[in-house]
Amino acid sequence: MNSASNLKARLLFVLAITFVGNSRVAAGNNQNAGRKLDEIPGFISIDCGSNEDYIDEQTKIPYVSDKELIDTGIVKTVSPESPRNIRQNAKNLRSFPQGTRNCYTLRPEKGKNNNYLIRARFFYGNYDGKNQTPVFDLHLGVNEWKTVNLTNAGPYGVHYDIIHVPLMDYIDVCLINTGRGVPFISSLELRLLDNSIYPTQGRALTKLGGLDVGRNPSDSDVRYPDDGYDRIWNPLLFDQWIPISTSSTVYSLSTDNAYNIPDVVLRTAAKSQNSTTPLSFYFSPPDSLSQCYVYFHFAEIEKLENGQQRELTILLNGERYLTESVTLDYLNSRTILPTELAIMGERLNFSITAAEGSKFPPILNAVEIFVSKELPNKTTAIQDVEAIMEIKKLYKLTRNWQGDPCVPREYSWDGLHCSYIYNIPSIISVNLSSSNLTGKIATSFSNLKAIESLDLSYNDLTGPLPEFLAQLPNLYSVDLRGNKFTGSIPEDLLQKSRDGTLVLSVNENPDPCQSVACKRGKKKEFVIPVVASSTAAVLLLLFIFSRLAIYKQKRHGGMVTKSNIKSKNQQYSYSEVVSITNNFETIIGGGGFGKVYLGKLKDEIQVAVKLLSPSSNQGYKEFQAEAQLLMIVHHRNLVSLVGYCDEDDQKALIYEYMENGNLHQHLSVKNTNVMTWNERLNIAVDAAHGLEYLHNGCKPPIIHRDLKTSNILLTGHMQAKIADFGLSRIFATESDSHVSTCPAGTLGYLDPEYQASGNFNKKSDVYSFGIVLFELITGRPAIMRGLEKNIHILDWIYPIIESGDIQSVVDPRLQGKFHTNSAWKAVEIALSCIPPIASLRPDISQVLAELKECLALEMTNASLATECNMAPSSIPLETSYLELESDIAALAR
Ligand SMILES: *[C@@H]1O[C@H](CO)[C@@H](O)[C@H](O)[C@H]1NC(C)=O
Ligand SMILES: *[C@@H]1O[C@H](CO)[C@@H](O)[C@H](O)[C@H]1NC(C)=O
Ligand SMILES: *[C@@H]1O[C@H](CO)[C@@H](O)[C@H](O)[C@H]1NC(C)=O
Ligand SMILES: *[C@@H]1O[C@H](CO)[C@@H](O)[C@H](O)[C@H]1NC(C)=O
Ligand SMILES: *[C@@H]1O[C@H](CO)[C@@H](O)[C@H](O)[C@H]1NC(C)=O
Ligand SMILES: *[C@@H]1O[C@H](CO)[C@@H](O)[C@H](O)[C@H]1NC(C)=O
Repeated sequence: MNSASNLKARLLFVLAITFVGNSRVAAGNNQNAGRKLDEIPGFISIDCGSNEDYIDEQTKIPYVSDKELIDTGIVKTVSPESPRNIRQNAKNLRSFPQGTRNCYTLRPEKGKNNNYLIRARFFYGNYDGKNQTPVFDLHLGVNEWKTVNLTNAGPYGVHYDIIHVPLMDYIDVCLINTGRGVPFISSLELRLLDNSIYPTQGRALTKLGGLDVGRNPSDSDVRYPDDGYDRIWNPLLFDQWIPISTSSTVYSLSTDNAYNIPDVVLRTAAKSQNSTTPLSFYFSPPDSLSQCYVYFHFAEIEKLENGQQRELTILLNGERYLTESVTLDYLNSRTILPTELAIMGERLNFSITAAEGSKFPPILNAVEIFVSKELPNKTTAIQDVEAIMEIKKLYKLTRNWQGDPCVPREYSWDGLHCSYIYNIPSIISVNLSSSNLTGKIATSFSNLKAIESLDLSYNDLTGPLPEFLAQLPNLYSVDLRGNKFTGSIPEDLLQKSRDGTLVLSVNENPDPCQSVACKRGKKKEFVIPVVASSTAAVLLLLFIFSRLAIYKQKRHGGMVTKSNIKSKNQQYSYSEVVSITNNFETIIGGGGFGKVYLGKLKDEIQVAVKLLSPSSNQGYKEFQAEAQLLMIVHHRNLVSLVGYCDEDDQKALIYEYMENGNLHQHLSVKNTNVMTWNERLNIAVDAAHGLEYLHNGCKPPIIHRDLKTSNILLTGHMQAKIADFGLSRIFATESDSHVSTCPAGTLGYLDPEYQASGNFNKKSDVYSFGIVLFELITGRPAIMRGLEKNIHILDWIYPIIESGDIQSVVDPRLQGKFHTNSAWKAVEIALSCIPPIASLRPDISQVLAELKECLALEMTNASLATECNMAPSSIPLETSYLELESDIAALAR
């Protein structure tokens, strides 16, 4: 215990090294002045408040001044009484006495959808002579990242690391004044990581620590160039641990070598006294609900006699953390990825022990600890952001125009109004009245597609009025009074103003009377004066309806309707199949039978052609079965067969084409277009309808046998239809409630009773349907590819349901946009489908009735609720890096 407190002090010291440069600082900086610094690919390194660009003495990383990168804030220098060995990038800083939110915008070369490590550093150094450390908030784009509290920062300040995959090509890092002191920043760094490492799953990972175990604590930390990603590794060695090291090179040969743990980090390790003694340590997450991910890095660095191998097991709070033990190879690194399920708790005790029967004491080379950070707030629509940025640049606007224009709401840009009704916030009004604007009306305004009101009155704008103003579909108010516009008013614009769909104000311009209409009407006023509020309301309604209409139009466009398919059921020759598929040009899928090709019938109707591969050992019988079944089964939630080809060996099925692919694709993490809760419930109801028809509408009933998300297809307007009856069999009689044939179904969806008994019946489909429901609810696949092992969705979800936290059950990508009661109801329905004993599962008709109720519940809630009121309450994560670090300690035995 005593040693634990020693260690706290030691760790504090170790962490402090982060900002320490050993000896030769500052000197030689000038030699770099004026020459182009060699950039490191994937790195952005900004020294905030620095006057010049330079190459850091220790790391050889080139830093750039932030002069050109930000137009607010003031440059400050830390007090000369600061430790002399602080890093160059800590000496200056930029402070922001003005404005609530000030942001840096990082634009990494590789852009969006790449994995980045972002690091912000803060060293106060009494720069303002007040000797009072401020407290302020740090945001990553539109989401909170951290509260910066430098009270206990230690002599060299703090840094915060976060791993993030941006959905945009830029990353905003913002400092928020929360009324507890003036925000500032010392440096800002970004490092491109390999996309396969530290998976973030739509969130961000804040780093609590990277520890180089066994390294002498008085040594400095390891970073670039030893670490190609410039991760920071702090030494860690507890008193009872025996340091070991090697001078040989350690290789990363395994599949996880993208982690690229530095050789110098792996070459040191600690081992315990003997094989009966574990290596134990614990840490306390910021709070007991923080989802923690731990990466262990091992490498054998002792040559064991007779080529024997060390074998380890890892325990968490006395229980097995990994099911398998870990065997180490000599001079070969191995990264143990975190378990798929995040670990949580007030205190996490880890013990690395020798595996049973192993005579070698356990070792550990390095460990990294992360906490996942939700990113619930969405950014403004990208085209709006780009347009308004261009407008800002063109007119050289400063104001508080930094960071995201609309989000978070409380920091939205002055003069803008945004709509938050839809999933993605968008700009609906721009007011740049009396803003000293000069030049023409920026064409970028035409990219603000959702704009309803534009006020550019009382500026010095010149030129003609642009045509595009009439093309903006939702624009109903344009105020251009008090400018220097010339030329005629575009006819379309005039027409809109005559129709009363647009309020156009153009008087007090020098030359307002050149338009056709003006010439005709002479003194006629263009201005349709102040709109009465009722008119405004009507316009708003019109606007909403028109949007809805557009939305509906879009969703119905191009879909293949039932009627135009129905009349064309027929047999095709093989040569016709070849021409329909344009010689099998485009593959759109695969199935139990063979490949599926995109086709086009003579009348241009798109179809999906499933070609039975001759090599398929499932063969003829199933083809016949499916063809026959489908020809007689018609339901709006079942994929229709348009025709088939049965020419000797050449067999094909021609189905209606489903524009939106399958549900599996839509739920996949790769799909950035996240389905709403309402869409999901509708799909569930549709699929239940289809299955109900198969079970109860067909005589004899049809058992699907392979229901899964990839067999649920979606039309252009997201109507779900069940596909692939390839494994179905027609029942002889209702009472003969089971048929046993060859194995069928897909892992993860298979009824456990069927697996035990081989009996397949309606209830087996209900089980599979339950799994599909859980996938819809959670957004996770039936079988989650774990890092160490695969996890079935039920094993994953049971404990979460038990904990009663619906927000953790439902797909985090929905960002809380669902109603708790309908979500619970959906979970209950799914649970009712999956008892291991088939007779306990309801009939699908009951499931359908319940789902309809669930949908109704969501709809009534939605119409009552205002937007966003169901957003999950964010859990404040108060603990800082240092506080946590100081809590990593050896476990007392
Ligand atoms: C998301 O935005 C809301 C409203 O602006 C804000 O209250 C909340 O703190 C934000 N959440 C995060 C995680 O930043
Ligand atoms: C900052 O941290 C100190 C020490 O942990 C704490 O006492 C103080 O309340 C914090 N300040 C704020 C504003 O959270
Ligand atoms: C292993 O080490 C521990 C702690 O140093 C000691 O108490 C124990 O007796 C040792 N066991 C053996 C078998 O040497
Ligand atoms: C962690 O270990 C400590 C000391 O052995 C013990 O008191 C504590 O209960 C353990 N915590 C958990 C969650 O197992
Ligand atoms: C724009 O802002 C000015 C004041 O800055 C205000 O007088 C005017 O009414 C605003 N315009 C609109 C359309 O709200
Ligand atoms: C516009 O320019 C005038 C004169 O230069 C200045 O006083 C005023 O503050 C400026 N207004 C804005 C909004 O920048």
